[in-house]
Amino acid sequence: MSTPGAETVEAVVEAGGAGTGRVMTRVEERMVELVSGHGASLARHGAETITAGGKRLRPLLVCIAAGVPVAESESLVRAAVAVELVHAATLVHDDVIDGANLRRGRPTVVASGGRLMALATGDLLFSRAFAELAAGGEIEPIRILSAAASALASGELMQRDDAWNADVAQERYLERCRLKTGVLFRAACELGALAGGAPISALGRFGESIGVAFQLLDDVLDVTGPPERTGKPRGADLLDGTVTLPLIEARKRDPQLARLDLRAVESAEEAAAVCDLIEASGALEFARYHALSVVADAKAELPTDLPEAQRAALELVADGVVERYS
Ligand code: IPE
Ligand code: IPE
Ligand code: MG
Ligand code: MG
Repeated sequence: MSTPGAETVEAVVEAGGAGTGRVMTRVEERMVELVSGHGASLARHGAETITAGGKRLRPLLVCIAAGVPVAESESLVRAAVAVELVHAATLVHDDVIDGANLRRGRPTVVASGGRLMALATGDLLFSRAFAELAAGGEIEPIRILSAAASALASGELMQRDDAWNADVAQERYLERCRLKTGVLFRAACELGALAGGAPISALGRFGESIGVAFQLLDDVLDVTGPPERTGKPRGADLLDGTVTLPLIEARKRDPQLARLDLRAVESAEEAAAVCDLIEASGALEFARYHALSVVADAKAELPTDLPEAQRAALELVADGVVERYS
């Protein structure tokens, strides 16, 4: 599988200076270390989840929100580790909720180890994240990350409540994106800013917007595929009843889609055919445009007195989120 966003990650690591690579290496080592020592099965699934890769966008955001050039510190490594572990935990649980077989081009924990193993692996990853922050001895990072983890859980539940409801409102969909994805990006930026003495709320707002755009575009990618690029089958959202902006908008434009009973879409072929209709309706351009304007606003609202090198690195992330899908 190609890794969408790999170029962005490389560019951001470079923009962050030599400290970024050092922090990111320590983050990888520490995450693997943290998931071992809780029994062989959990260690295996936990370690496989971590070593399967991922773009590590959230730890990178922690780094550059702290300041550029990135200064290696214990609190920065802890924060970056904790955010990525919460992300990994939610993905493991998300794949249970969504019944997903493929993640990062590999079988999901639920597919390879079953539901119980996936629940326990996700729980382990969550608990290790908070243990890592607690070991740092500061309350504020724990408060920030636990608020994000709660928001994530409510976002995932909201999405389940909305499952198969093709009439879900765009505003509600956007609130779901904020809760399940935007808030963790916000936490990454806030934790970084806290560790590095940068403006916490302004960078948090930036992170949240970038996260919402990221989810919007992920939902576009679910329609376009191809699976070799995304590491998951095309139309997976349709098959698990997740109604996203491309479908919400396409239903306004195409009467055939407006009449469609979502539960009747059962096979991968049927899902691909609906994806083709969504694409033909022009709804993907609409969703992309929406994401692009969220990113443009986020960039424009960065504080004017932010050091130039830090602004440039944050803008690289913002642009990378958009370019990944264009
Ligand atoms: C996937 O996030 C889940 C969403 C929020 C859309 P990423 O695309 O950041 O996942 P990895 O960690 O790089 O695999
Ligand atoms: C994002 O939701 C995952 C979380 C924020 C928990 P999705 O269900 O859209 O993500 P993918 O498509 O499985 O990566
Ligand atoms: Mg999913
Ligand atoms: Mg999901």
